[in-house]
Amino acid sequence: MATSRKHAATMLTLQALDSRRSVPTRQLTSPGPDEATLLRMLRTAVRVPDHGKRVPFRFLRIAGTARAALADAALARLRQREPDAGAAVEEKLRTRFTLPPLTLAVIARLEPDTKIPEAERRASAACVCLLLLQAAQAEGFGAQWLTGWPAYDRPFLEGTLGLAPDEELVGTVAIGTPQLAAPERERPDPAALLADWHP
Ligand SMILES: Cc1cc2nc3c(=O)[nH]c(=O)nc-3n(C[C@H](O)[C@H](O)[C@H](O)COP(=O)(O)O)c2cc1C
Repeated sequence: MATSRKHAATMLTLQALDSRRSVPTRQLTSPGPDEATLLRMLRTAVRVPDHGKRVPFRFLRIAGTARAALADAALARLRQREPDAGAAVEEKLRTRFTLPPLTLAVIARLEPDTKIPEAERRASAACVCLLLLQAAQAEGFGAQWLTGWPAYDRPFLEGTLGLAPDEELVGTVAIGTPQLAAPERERPDPAALLADWHP
């Protein structure tokens, strides 16, 4: 009895992990998670391996009226970077921030550190994004991790989002209620990726 209960729990856990898929941001609408649910999701997200316990990440919440304000700022920067980007590109950028009820910017904090390599701290911050996707799906939401130029443009990152010079944007994670069933894509064949090392 105990064994079969344990088996059922294992199956549920693996099913949740194995069914993760992104929902395109344009299909994410309200409602998003409430405060308690968001904090519950973040509790999962911060449970990452973290060499040296540096906690090399933080979050910025973009919700409510901040969404349109951020879209406006991003559009202004796009027009400086690419004056001829075109209406379709502009509309995609605007809806990236205005459609989903919640966007979390996941920021890597990479201050000088003589012991833990920067790559390892960046890896921890990237793991946060994955766990956030998992937690969002477990709570019944859809989510997608995005980067694009806004993740690498220092004037946008520092001037608009307020990042410090030693911080990076690992990505924005859009979270909301999926309007359509998320599309599945072909996944890598794990057996084809596995090799035995021989001395
Ligand atoms: C670091 C990173 C950045 C990404 N940036 C974008 C992006 O800017 N635009 C996009 O369409 N997908 C982006 N993706 C891909 C999506 O997040 C997602 O993985 C993809 O839609 C496939 O869905 P899946 O998660 O179900 O495999 C990015 C993924 C990663 C890991």
